[in-house]
Amino acid sequence: MITLNVDLGDRSYPIFIGEDLLQDKSLISPYIAGKQVVIVTNETIAPLYLDKVLSLCSDYQCKTVILPDGEVYKTYDGILPIIDCLMENQFDRRVTLIALGGGVIGDMTGYAAAIYRRGVNFIQIPTTLLAQVDSSVGGKTGVNHPLGKNMIGAFHQPQCVLADTLTLNTLDDRQLSAGMAEVIKYALINSGEFFTWLKANMSALNQRDPEALAYAIEFSCQDKADVVAADEKEQGQRALLNLGHTFGHAIETGLGYGNCLHGEAVAIGMVMAADLSMRHGWIDESVRQQIISLIELANLPTCVPTEIANGQTIKLSVEKFTELMAGDKKVLDGQLHLILLNALGSSLITSDFDGEKLSQTLEVFATA
Ligand code: NAD
Ligand code: GLY
Repeated sequence: MITLNVDLGDRSYPIFIGEDLLQDKSLISPYIAGKQVVIVTNETIAPLYLDKVLSLCSDYQCKTVILPDGEVYKTYDGILPIIDCLMENQFDRRVTLIALGGGVIGDMTGYAAAIYRRGVNFIQIPTTLLAQVDSSVGGKTGVNHPLGKNMIGAFHQPQCVLADTLTLNTLDDRQLSAGMAEVIKYALINSGEFFTWLKANMSALNQRDPEALAYAIEFSCQDKADVVAADEKEQGQRALLNLGHTFGHAIETGLGYGNCLHGEAVAIGMVMAADLSMRHGWIDESVRQQIISLIELANLPTCVPTEIANGQTIKLSVEKFTELMAGDKKVLDGQLHLILLNALGSSLITSDFDGEKLSQTLEVFATA
């Protein structure tokens, strides 16, 4: 088992990464303060892992909330079953919520923990690659609004993160790839060396080689822990972790939540960021091409889909892109800030980009 630390003074917490951690009661019990626990999961994950987590909680007064599965349920109303359970059982301020699932369950449970009785403890047990490398760490919690992704939320750090890598064995290939987008993001933001490692190991990662996966998760979590420790509330460099996200969130919202997975939208967004960076002359064509090739190696899309799961055709216009991006969280005093690249493994946050060049990028990627 690897243990990393998110260094936030008296709110510091460990990230445990390893195989079969859900067997080990002693890992989470020090992070449960009171006698009460609520496990929040969804209808897909419950049959797979709920019994194991119930066993971890056998010494506590424990209730379970099983939510419907999907990004479309990550709404304000969607967290009410969690709050109802807490209220109906009169759980006190020492209750601990346990998020068992991917980023959707983690974000919703964390947000419920942030607002119930003005804040109670929670623990993250991430079960997707995306959640193990990104969303379970760093304390961003929240839900979507029909007009914008993650627009309602709070910073609320967990007590600990327990990433059992064996849970990834039941994840389907599309979801594994979606998580890989966030892994690639860390390489593009600040590590050319990790980019080279990913190129050499993507085939092993796609085949779920345990050693390769463990290294990718450890590298990603360490990088995120360092960034969060330095800038918890995103006053500066934490924004770099949003590479591809301004474009990606517009794609997710524009196509309808759940139609393009978060990781897929981030992958397309990173290709768009590379396109715009190249138009400014900050990276050259060979770098852009290397980025596209790695994203393709991870079986991720590089352009906006025009057809969704049920065969329905779907379009995203330049106007819609522009409208959705204007509502991004990185718009400050009316000015959009974007994360762009100035080398392979080096990124910057800037509002000093050419609006004409942005329009050209949107023209290339828009589908209507
Ligand atoms: P998800 O939570 O929807 O999980 C993907 C699918 O996999 C779901 O159907 C889920 O039920 C299923 N699943 C989960 N674990 C499984 C397992 N072990 N075996 C089989 N199936 C399993 O999606 P995600 O990609 O994990 O998370 C995406 C969400 O995370 C988005 O809402 C995004 O906004 C959010 N996010 C948050 C942060 C943050 O810092 N808080 C960072 C990145 C992404
Ligand atoms: N996923 C971006 C962040 O946590 O800041």
